[in-house]
Amino acid sequence: MRIVQITDLHVGREGEETYGVDVRANFRKILQAARQRRPQYLVLSGDLCYRDGDAEVYYWMREQVDALGIHYEVISGNHDDPVLLARAFGRENLLKGAELYFTRQWGDKMVIFLDTTPGMVSEQQINWLREQLGKLEQEALIFMHHPPLEAGVPFMDANYALRNQADVQEILLAHPYNVHVFTGHYHVEKAVRKQNILVHITPSCFFQIGQLSEHFQVDHYRIALREINWENGVMMNAVHYLGGEPQR
Ligand SMILES: [Fe+2]
Repeated sequence: MRIVQITDLHVGREGEETYGVDVRANFRKILQAARQRRPQYLVLSGDLCYRDGDAEVYYWMREQVDALGIHYEVISGNHDDPVLLARAFGRENLLKGAELYFTRQWGDKMVIFLDTTPGMVSEQQINWLREQLGKLEQEALIFMHHPPLEAGVPFMDANYALRNQADVQEILLAHPYNVHVFTGHYHVEKAVRKQNILVHITPSCFFQIGQLSEHFQVDHYRIALREINWENGVMMNAVHYLGGEPQR
């Protein structure tokens, strides 16, 4: 299967000032870049909204994504509201209480989508994840907003890491196969591995964060998507940055 992941769009309300970045233009550009790659599936992995979940922003984004005609899934980030998001994208049926986590069967693979909106994976969801992996007798593919491992990005690790990483890691490490996890949230491009857990952090469509400083620092404004191809038992993935001038 061929998947394109885009993340951390941080779209504001029409006319809202967003650090001088035209996030709406970035969103349109990344969708066009996604379409050019002709994926079977598109995943928007959270932080669709600039700061707080906003129905108006979600409806605007849905219009743009629907127009592509590509099957897509949306998960919630810490700058989203999973209930507003699910309603705007017509996926209320996927809500479990106020959380948006679910699986999809894509070809012969089950894909797991988690909800880390509060900066952690709830106890109810932890139990559900354990059940899902228990049923899966092969490598796992998970999309979640927060990385379940520290990533060597001091500012993000110290301030915004997933709070119950240890609980999540325990479940993933117990899976007898590899667990491929695709995330956003950190606004960096990075691959991190711990035993059978392989985490790929995809850059933002807003700005990228400096990976050396303990303080907030913008690294650059180029935006990117991640392409994941999983065919015949081989998984490859790559980040593609949009060319040309910085997207500012
Ligand atoms: Fe985030």
